[in-house]
Amino acid sequence: MGKMGSITTLLLLCLALISIAIEAIDVSYDGRAITIDGKRKILFSGSIHYPRSTAEMWPSLIEKSKEGGLDVIETYVFWNVHEPHPGQYDFSGNLDLVRFIKTIQNQGLHAVLRIGPYVCAEWNYGGFPVWLHNIPNIEFRTNNAIFEDEMKKFTTLIVDMMRHEKLFASQGGPIILAQIENEYGNIMGSYGQNGKEYVQWCAQLAQSYQIGVPWIMCQQSDAPDPLINTCNGFYCDQWHPNSNNKPKMWTEDWTGWFMHWGGPTPHRTAEDVAFAVGRFFQYGGTFQNYYMYHGGTNFGRTSGGPYITTSYDYDAPLNEYGDLNQPKWGHLKRLHEVLKSVETTLTMGSSRNIDYGNQMTATIFSYAGQSVCFLGNAHPSMDANINFQNTQYTIPAWSVSILPDCYTEVYNTAKVNAQTSIMTINNENSYALDWQWMPETHLEQMKDGKVLGSVAITAPRLLDQKVANDTSDYLWYITSVDVKQGDPILSHDLKIRVNTKGHVLHVFVNGAHIGSQYATYGKYTFTFEADIKLKLGKNEISLVSGTVGLPNYGAYFDNIHVGVTGVQLVSQNDGSEVTKDISTNVWHYKVGMHGENVKLYSPSRSTEEWFTNGLQAHKIFMWYKTTFRTPVGTDSVVLDLKGLGKGQAWVNGNNIGRYWVSYLAGEDGCSSTCDYRGTYRSNKCTTNCGNPTQRWYHVPDSFLRDGLDNTLVVFEEQGGNPFQVKIATVTIAKACAKAYEGHELELACKENQVISEIKFASFGVPEGECGSFKKGHCESSDTLSIVKRLCLGKQQCSIHVNEKMLGPTGCRVPENRLAIDALCQTTVSNERRKY
Ligand SMILES: *[C@@H]1O[C@H](CO)[C@@H](O)[C@H](O)[C@H]1NC(C)=O
Repeated sequence: MGKMGSITTLLLLCLALISIAIEAIDVSYDGRAITIDGKRKILFSGSIHYPRSTAEMWPSLIEKSKEGGLDVIETYVFWNVHEPHPGQYDFSGNLDLVRFIKTIQNQGLHAVLRIGPYVCAEWNYGGFPVWLHNIPNIEFRTNNAIFEDEMKKFTTLIVDMMRHEKLFASQGGPIILAQIENEYGNIMGSYGQNGKEYVQWCAQLAQSYQIGVPWIMCQQSDAPDPLINTCNGFYCDQWHPNSNNKPKMWTEDWTGWFMHWGGPTPHRTAEDVAFAVGRFFQYGGTFQNYYMYHGGTNFGRTSGGPYITTSYDYDAPLNEYGDLNQPKWGHLKRLHEVLKSVETTLTMGSSRNIDYGNQMTATIFSYAGQSVCFLGNAHPSMDANINFQNTQYTIPAWSVSILPDCYTEVYNTAKVNAQTSIMTINNENSYALDWQWMPETHLEQMKDGKVLGSVAITAPRLLDQKVANDTSDYLWYITSVDVKQGDPILSHDLKIRVNTKGHVLHVFVNGAHIGSQYATYGKYTFTFEADIKLKLGKNEISLVSGTVGLPNYGAYFDNIHVGVTGVQLVSQNDGSEVTKDISTNVWHYKVGMHGENVKLYSPSRSTEEWFTNGLQAHKIFMWYKTTFRTPVGTDSVVLDLKGLGKGQAWVNGNNIGRYWVSYLAGEDGCSSTCDYRGTYRSNKCTTNCGNPTQRWYHVPDSFLRDGLDNTLVVFEEQGGNPFQVKIATVTIAKACAKAYEGHELELACKENQVISEIKFASFGVPEGECGSFKKGHCESSDTLSIVKRLCLGKQQCSIHVNEKMLGPTGCRVPENRLAIDALCQTTVSNERRKY
């Protein structure tokens, strides 16, 4: 043996170590479940879109997801932000996809990569770069070679990047599934035969990569084998895949809904989400993904729609700031634990159903002498009393009970034991900000008659705004009209009439602002009309058209026109209309505001002279600038932009998104009560009617600096008053809970808080809602003092809800409940944020 032998041994050892480090994980599937290393799995997954938070937030978001019982984090890949210009890529900061996937891997979770590259996602233009639209003869999402080449180029880039970093499970990485296209089946009919061929092409492209993990196609009932078709929706229990050899997978369980400007705040109850999940597993589902688990923020100009707000909170289990959205997070965590505890029986067992009528069913899964039972009542209002295997059970309307031993109900989707946390905006320590101001240069130039600097395009027609590649919300349409003596257009009641397909319009004649108009959500085409006066000779007409996110959904959404479509001068002559159509005049186009183009918001920008005195409020197209201190403590920071109109804001050069505080949610449609029972719709259980749709704007910690030197720059498009703007923080003000006997009541404030007061505690039959509980007709006499002893001054406490712990209630009901209303207080701390 000698030397050779020991070298061989060493080599073998090295190889063994390497192969441990990169051990392939075998991911496959059968008709029941996704299998990992040959074992059928129940997988709980949650969507977190990396560009909707910051890289600094990712570890804590993923940790809280894991703690909430998730096995998988799912994300789309957002082409338009990665390739802002053809062939120029950006994977920096919160676009660092590899870092995001590795953060998931570091927590020991799996990942699902939905490459798309069409993503929908209420994201600008569905994730397509707008320059793609401007390639001659391209047709999106159909059998078009130009589109397919571009799609393939980007998809290949992403697959290669993942492969290079060994991120597929087949390479020992976390990615267990990948998706091609997205919800194409919903709109495929409009594309005819070409659409069908495109689906085949997508499937072949995906297969050609040989990534060693299965591919999925959501909402695609004709997904070619071996790709798995999956379901998206509020409920997917009655859905089935297109083959018995594929598992029943739910890629989007909508935990709430998105907000649009002018709309109220949606809310989907914890009970209803849990019911949907319970039903899905009762009916054989094994993979379930929450869309969203953390919704986050549409920073910059990333929101789509159009009219999707900057907040993408989605009422997800983790709120926009990354805090637990309770009780949703906790109620689902418990559900995950219960279902995980019976994974083998659910994935291996045979099942049979018993129908009790009135939408009440029982399902029994049996395997190797073990049984798990679901008792599901899908009636929207009638509780069910059933005799199941010689025992009486009451199943509340619209709920599922899980009996892991087919006898004991350990979980019912309608019985929430998790606490409710009431978030509050704290601006107690805010102070008056010192503002500087500057009018938008293009506006000043226009007033001086020098409107034609920096023209990008000149054309004898009105162009779709996408021609400018969406580098700004704003496109200036500029033309001139010559008026000669005796021109009938000079009559007294001259009007300008502008037809536009959205979304906002500002009209100027000879440098004077004539008026502005905005579309409403869902109806973007409108006509603007206003009186104007023209002078003899040359008159300048400037229209500023603004987008509020580009469409992201529907057949041919990519071709939906945005911007001005017709301009007429209209005068009345003896009662009849005289019209001069100037749509085919020579139009000059300028892209964006001057301040955007020179990055007025950039911290390194110091050449401009800002005005420090005589601040002008309520003026169109104004730039404002101030500095502010980073609040102490670790609570999330938000800007309270009350007083402002519409625009964008930057903190230390980071675009925190579009704001539109002046746009109030309609007065009607909100409900003071919310019944979780019955089919959820996005307009059910909404709140915030009559208030600004979004008043508070998240500033993530990594955008902030220590001390005094944060710079806030605002572009106010509409006119507003910056003096009301405040720097605020978000925290939990109140925590309350109402837990059933036999369960554990867990009460927690945030990590930097203590339970400072117990406002109410009663064990018995307490009534009312969180924050306003009342004693029922009976209760244990010691409850308040016991709860105070266990919880006061602590960050969290946990109480066994039973008579042994809390004393006899004398209530004679099947289940007593313990209700607690508590206050949370941030502990005094000079600790600053860490950067
Ligand atoms: C839009 O992008 C295309 C392709 O990158 C480019 O050729 C064109 O000049 C751009 N248009 C404008 C107005 O910048």
